[in-house]
Amino acid sequence: MNALKRVVIGFFWLFCFVSSGFASDVFTVDHEAFPYYPSLFNYQASETGFYAPDVCAGCHPQQFEEWSGSVHALALVDPIYQGELLLAYKKAGHDVTRQCEGCHSAAGVVTGELSKPGLEGLSPMTLAGVSCDVCHSVVGTTHWQTPSHEPENGSLVLRPGVETADGSMPAKRGPFAPDEACGMGFHQCEESPLHKQADLCAGCHQVYHYEAHFPLEATYLEWKHGPYAQKGIHCQDCHMVETETFLSAADDFRKPVSGEYRHYFNGANYLLYFLAGEAAKKSGDTDLAANVQKKYEMAIARLQAAAQLELTPLYRGSALSELKVRVKNVRAGHNLPTSLTNVREMWLELEVYDSQGALVLSSGTLDADGHLPKDVRRFNSDGMGDDFHFAIDPWAVTAFSRHETIPPKGYKDVYYGLGGLSATGPLRIEARLRYRQADQKMAEKLLGSATKNIDLEKVYGLTEVPMLPVIDMATAQLDIDARN
Ligand code: HEC
Ligand code: HEC
Ligand code: HEC
Ligand code: HEC
Ligand code: HEC
Repeated sequence: MNALKRVVIGFFWLFCFVSSGFASDVFTVDHEAFPYYPSLFNYQASETGFYAPDVCAGCHPQQFEEWSGSVHALALVDPIYQGELLLAYKKAGHDVTRQCEGCHSAAGVVTGELSKPGLEGLSPMTLAGVSCDVCHSVVGTTHWQTPSHEPENGSLVLRPGVETADGSMPAKRGPFAPDEACGMGFHQCEESPLHKQADLCAGCHQVYHYEAHFPLEATYLEWKHGPYAQKGIHCQDCHMVETETFLSAADDFRKPVSGEYRHYFNGANYLLYFLAGEAAKKSGDTDLAANVQKKYEMAIARLQAAAQLELTPLYRGSALSELKVRVKNVRAGHNLPTSLTNVREMWLELEVYDSQGALVLSSGTLDADGHLPKDVRRFNSDGMGDDFHFAIDPWAVTAFSRHETIPPKGYKDVYYGLGGLSATGPLRIEARLRYRQADQKMAEKLLGSATKNIDLEKVYGLTEVPMLPVIDMATAQLDIDARN
């Protein structure tokens, strides 16, 4: 081979390598169909635009109060989101952060108002995050036209208004067949079966890597592949109702009736409610503080209803050899945990005491700085990047190297070796399933980064990141003998 040929071939391979990136014939992107790519929202513009929630509040005060202080209402102003967004913007630029903004404030993106991180100068409509007019302007989905042919990154079509003989008018979609009075001349009403289905939520509750189209969060597909979808229990039936109603939907597959729906969108994120409560107190809004406190308690109630523990000692011959801990997902409609499974922390803490009450074995206990020990039994995922090494940021994670979550109505078993214990008499075993939103260091990093957009002291009264609260989702005790 002559030198020239070698150089040409060399350049050819270099070209192939450089141009490959995430290029794949599996996920083809139709940029014309998705003008806000990597956000997959579509916008059918009308002369009538989107309204801020306080406009709707005039005639729908109950829905407004339920939605106020919800995680949807906080989706854009969430300081943990703003912290991560700023990091994404620095690392990957606005072509990537448009993906985030699409779901965290869709109306802001399709109208072009939201074009950089930060909250300064934004209208109340954009600040309202997942607002009334985002959901009630959804006229369709593009779930099966996306690059993954699954719902992802906001595969929803928004159309806030229609042109009529009397001019442009807001048109709102909802669950009812409208009567004459619906909208009271302010808006038209359109009946929408989509609003009673998980497919409405799917576009935003399937977070895919912006180029690799890997599902970082796949709550909708976890639900769809489980028993609740088969029994017709949708997201709304657990997350848009009071706790009691959620329990009967989860236990008896009872579908709530029309008047039972509430705009709480209550899940697990008690930390965000805690922060929102501090902000409300700081600004002197005691009504909002009380409202958010109720949502905080509701989130903890949902978490504590989700799981159960079962302890079984295993003997080899007459000697105790292992403890089996079965962790059951009894009431979450999707995997447990779901969503940000590479950030959320759900783990087992185990303590074994001898007959004198002395601790003879422990596992999963947080240290004084709020960090988990290395040998802890966790239920979550580890992300990896393009190079197959550990990664955690949403623009870097293109696959999971470990994915340990519990399917709906399913379980996982964990075994602890107890053969090495020197105790011979009775033993007391205490097990706890614990949960928090993130690792302490991670929370410090994200809230630390947010300070460039949000003055944490001014808004929340925070001078430092507090120790993240931990919730016991389920506990179990067992008294056994070291010999059988
Ligand atoms: C497809 C819609 C979607 C996209 C795109 C998206 N998110 Fe989210 N994000 C969500 C949903 C839904 C949750 C709630 C999940 C949960 O609570 O576990 C969430 C939660 C978060 C949280 C946790 C907030 C908290 O208070 O704990 C952070 C941080 C976050 N997103 C940052 C980002 C960033 C940065 C991007 C862009 C790289 C992004 N998101 C893109 C839908 C989206
Ligand atoms: C995340 C999406 C979402 C957001 C945000 C949202 N809604 Fe809804 N809304 C729904 C769904 C879904 C239903 C249907 C519930 C059912 O099955 O009856 C609904 C129902 C309604 C109804 C019919 C009566 C009822 O309560 O069921 C009204 C009125 C309404 N919403 C107004 C509002 C207002 C006002 C806001 C803002 C303060 C708002 N919505 C925010 C999804 C949303
Ligand atoms: C001037 C009063 C008025 C205003 C302002 C108003 N609505 Fe309504 N809307 C009504 C009335 C009346 C109904 C009839 C049903 C009911 O009372 O819930 C209705 C019904 C609805 C429904 C149910 C439609 C159906 O077919 O299921 C939705 C969704 C809705 N409104 C959303 C909104 C949103 C979003 C806003 C703010 C952009 C808004 N409304 C502002 C008066 C109003
Ligand atoms: C336009 C996008 C969008 C739509 C549509 C949407 N969500 Fe969300 N949802 C989000 C985002 C973004 C968050 C997280 C915000 C944050 O943590 O900062 C979220 C958070 C939540 C949470 C709180 C999770 C927690 O950790 O506490 C629940 C519950 C939820 N959504 C349920 C629903 C249901 C039910 C529907 C359908 C009726 C729905 N969502 C539709 C974007 C959306
Ligand atoms: C049978 C009831 C049930 C159904 C159906 C259900 N969920 Fe949940 N969901 C729960 C419970 C309980 C929790 C709290 C435990 C947990 O975090 O999984 C939860 C938690 C969540 C969280 C917060 C996760 C976290 O750790 O931050 C989100 C987001 C969520 N659900 C979204 C959805 C969406 C979207 C759907 C529909 C595709 C849905 N849920 C269907 C019961 C349900």
